[in-house]
Amino acid sequence: MSNNGLLKSSLAKKYLMALTGLFLCTFLVGHLAGNLQLFIQGAEGQQAFNEYAEFMTTFPLVKLLSYLTYACVLFHIVDGIVLTIRNRKSRPVGYVKEKGSANASWASRNMGVLGTIIAVFLVSHMQTFWYKMHFGEMPMHDGLKDLHTVVLAFFSPENSLGIVAVLGYVLAQMALAFHLVHGFQSGFQSLGLRHPKYTPAIEKTGYLFGIGVPLLFAIIPVFLYITQL
Ligand code: HEM
Repeated sequence: MSNNGLLKSSLAKKYLMALTGLFLCTFLVGHLAGNLQLFIQGAEGQQAFNEYAEFMTTFPLVKLLSYLTYACVLFHIVDGIVLTIRNRKSRPVGYVKEKGSANASWASRNMGVLGTIIAVFLVSHMQTFWYKMHFGEMPMHDGLKDLHTVVLAFFSPENSLGIVAVLGYVLAQMALAFHLVHGFQSGFQSLGLRHPKYTPAIEKTGYLFGIGVPLLFAIIPVFLYITQL
């Protein structure tokens, strides 16, 4: 491919990366809102969470959004791998590497590593809950699949690996935070939305979003573990 062709395809890839990444940010908000119901304790919380899970797996429009989410996750991962390899190959060795921290933040230089940690987390996460909910054997409660009990049992002190699960989730959320803080504002930049008036606000929102969302996600397993001690 000519240099011009390579540049065009890299720009298209950055665009796709930004679009899929920003869509996945909206998914995270919806997913977090649903998961916040895990803070409601007792029978009321169990009913609310199971009804929410039933709605998410059966309502046609939500199902359609789910397929879009899976497609975005896949595109974002594949595109991210290609861009990371391309950046590595085109990066001059030695001199820029030494001055790396002066040129870009730690997160921006390690988006590939952070993305890989999140992808590993996602595979394990989907296998634990999503696969079980869709294809596995589920306990039932009041005529609904009892996902609430499955989630609580996973983050329970009675589960010999419960504490490992909690720590793993907290660590994965740290990687997600670094990935989002850089990715959020970088996504807007890749779409060409850079303006002296709006960029500072986008950066501030990126910090709030990138720290707030993973923090709330991380508190959930810790809360579930402690309240079952
Ligand atoms: C405390 C943290 C979290 C808990 C307790 C949790 C819980 C769950 C549960 C119970 C499901 C299955 C729902 C279903 O299939 O109906 C699910 C699905 C999913 N989770 Fe999470 N989740 C957490 C964090 C995350 C994070 C941080 C991400 C992404 C980085 C994520 C991505 C997903 C995806 C992509 C699905 C599949 C959604 C779909 O089928 O539409 N989750 N999660």
